[in-house]
Amino acid sequence: MIYKGIIHKYSELLDLPAYSITVSLNEGNTPLIPIPRLANELGGDFKLFIKYEGLNPTGSFKDRGMTAAISEAVGRNVKSVICASTGNTAASAAAYSARAGLKAFVLMPAGKVAAGKITGAIAHQAEVIQIDGSFDDALELVVKISDKHPVSLVNSINPYRIEGQQTGAFEICEQVGSAPDICCLPVGNAGNITSYWKGFRRFNEVKHTGLPQMLGVQAAGSAPLVLGEPVKNPETVATAIRIGNPARGEEALQAAHESNGRIISCTDKEILEMQSRLAQEGVWVEPASAAGVAGLKKEILLGNIDPKDKTIVAICTGHGMKDPDIIVNQAELKEPIPVGLDKLEEVIFSN
Ligand code: F0G
Repeated sequence: MIYKGIIHKYSELLDLPAYSITVSLNEGNTPLIPIPRLANELGGDFKLFIKYEGLNPTGSFKDRGMTAAISEAVGRNVKSVICASTGNTAASAAAYSARAGLKAFVLMPAGKVAAGKITGAIAHQAEVIQIDGSFDDALELVVKISDKHPVSLVNSINPYRIEGQQTGAFEICEQVGSAPDICCLPVGNAGNITSYWKGFRRFNEVKHTGLPQMLGVQAAGSAPLVLGEPVKNPETVATAIRIGNPARGEEALQAAHESNGRIISCTDKEILEMQSRLAQEGVWVEPASAAGVAGLKKEILLGNIDPKDKTIVAICTGHGMKDPDIIVNQAELKEPIPVGLDKLEEVIFSN
């Protein structure tokens, strides 16, 4: 069977209005990659997998929810959509809007969006509006303007974003053969953890695949759900999750509570170390995407999680190519060498 995206594959499990007109880029169907060396380092005797969501059409997990939100909007004859974004939602909204012939307006915090994301939004000809404020400020603005004017909101407040996003959980259950014991993932605006928990419960109702514990991970400088209150000036190198007042924060806490899981935080240092560690496995993810695995490592080392005999799936939400600067700025690229075998031998074999 030719793969045609998540709405086509999971139409029976998704609560999308009948009037929806599918707009797809064949999103989803992402690989579940075993990471045995890291599992060994963390004590062994358990299975660790990465759900590599960076392999979606626009390089992040957002495409699952966006295909659903744009399909619903097109079915309603909407002409324009709007979102606030730390970058990935913007790039995804821009691509799906382009495909559907809609105008997309994307608001982003100026100077705080990784290069690959803003470039994606520009490439797909969205109207990019940078604001002198945070993601939280941008979200407040887009909610207000979409209440007042005929422009549809495609942030994860939009319920169809959550519907589509659930399919990540469905796929994991199919790939593993059941729900994993633990599912860890980064948390920003908290749409993703809300969706995964909903998706695992939905799949369990229909296919009896069981339920995982949810481990949500925030960046320490942007950890409102760990602190129990909004963070006014969130800061983190993981700009994707630089969010101080998550729209679905309550649902994230509920997912953690109901699944007997937790929401924790990791420092930027822990996040970047894990990004580098995963790259050494051949899996390059953007910083925020490494937060889930960084949190898992922390919980195992603290003795809060005993991984023995468990199957653990970490959602890596975005591709490393989204944020090239974070790598380049940490690296020292040597000067070019003249063309010549002697020089090349010297560089390779002199030490
Ligand atoms: N990882 C990446 C790469 C993200 O881009 C985001 C959110 C998250 C994790 C967190 O997911 O918000 O559902 O809890 N990015 C949004 C955006 C906010 O605008 O692209 P969440």
